[in-house]
Amino acid sequence: MARFTVLTVPDPRLRIKAEPVLQVDDSVRQLMNDLMDTMYADDGAGLAAVQVGIPKRVIVMDLTDQYPSLRPLKIANPEITWRSEETEIELEGCLSVPEQSARIERHAAIKVRYLDENNKLHEINAEGILARCFQHEIDHLDGKVYIDYVSPLKRQILIQKAQKVVRMRK
Ligand code: NI
Repeated sequence: MARFTVLTVPDPRLRIKAEPVLQVDDSVRQLMNDLMDTMYADDGAGLAAVQVGIPKRVIVMDLTDQYPSLRPLKIANPEITWRSEETEIELEGCLSVPEQSARIERHAAIKVRYLDENNKLHEINAEGILARCFQHEIDHLDGKVYIDYVSPLKRQILIQKAQKVVRMRK
């Protein structure tokens, strides 16, 4: 087991656009496992490699609370191939913006193509929290954080509050 330290806003490394992996090999599988350990240690539901300073298109998600039949997902090179016109606004949080949340508009349903931990290609339909989580994590791979969708003033407040939380933890 290995754990990373999760970067928090406004760390510039969260703004790097991640590169695809060539294939899911042992080193990528190791990265996926370490991301899982980090995510569980920090009590998160999703984590992108970018958030630990590794600019590769790799994410992990665990939504078994909401979808008991859905095993934890280890994902490489995710790509949204379709987005619904319908959108939904829900509260969203992020380990890189500790203990904060904001209401964010996302596509209500999407189609996502990705490689799993065995380098097998999948294309799945996602809606609700699963669709939201995919959109949030894929944003990380493009150097985006959910606070980019709120007003500049609100963004500044969220960053300051998150920084305060980080300071208190030290
Ligand atoms: Ni996040």
